Amino acid sequence: MADIERTLVIVKPDGVQRGLTGEIVNRFERRGLKIVAMRFGTIDAALAKKHYAEHEGKPFYAGLVDYITSGPSLVMVLEGPKAIEITRSTVGSTRPWEAAPGTIRADYGLTVGRNLVHASDSVASGEREVGLFFEGEELPSWSRDTDRWVYDE
Ligand code: RTP
Ligand code: MG
Repeated sequence: MADIERTLVIVKPDGVQRGLTGEIVNRFERRGLKIVAMRFGTIDAALAKKHYAEHEGKPFYAGLVDYITSGPSLVMVLEGPKAIEITRSTVGSTRPWEAAPGTIRADYGLTVGRNLVHASDSVASGEREVGLFFEGEELPSWSRDTDRWVYDE
């Protein structure tokens, strides 16, 4: 059985404002990842602080919370084999000037404070973050008929 993982991905407010939500979702979908949850809306400060709790106390923390709560985001859960690494490599390095060409942050970003996308950085982070944003029926279990053509067992 393939190593199926779940990751929480957020198109941050800059990605939404710039009209890049479809482009960004398309990159993950065409790569073969399966959408298992999605919600559009403004993340409130309490949730943002929980989500980015690991960065509390760092110099950029207050600005990061302001940024992620500054307007609507598109929050989603993606599933697939090695979804954590696959998603992070599609997103690119945190600092867009260090991101590999062809990644989202390299193709659309310039600064670390407007880097367009969040993606969970480990299986454990993915489980924690999915649980912060979604529960129960918001995470439908569904089988995709094309999966056997997208990845091998
Ligand atoms: P993310 O959590 O948003 O997916 O980003 P990441 O794992 O690539 O990077 P992380 O170290 O977790 O940082 C979270 C977000 O904080 C902002 N940041 N600003 N000014 C700075 O030095 C700085 N460093 C990080 C970025 O928006 C980064 O994505
Ligand atoms: Mg991170």
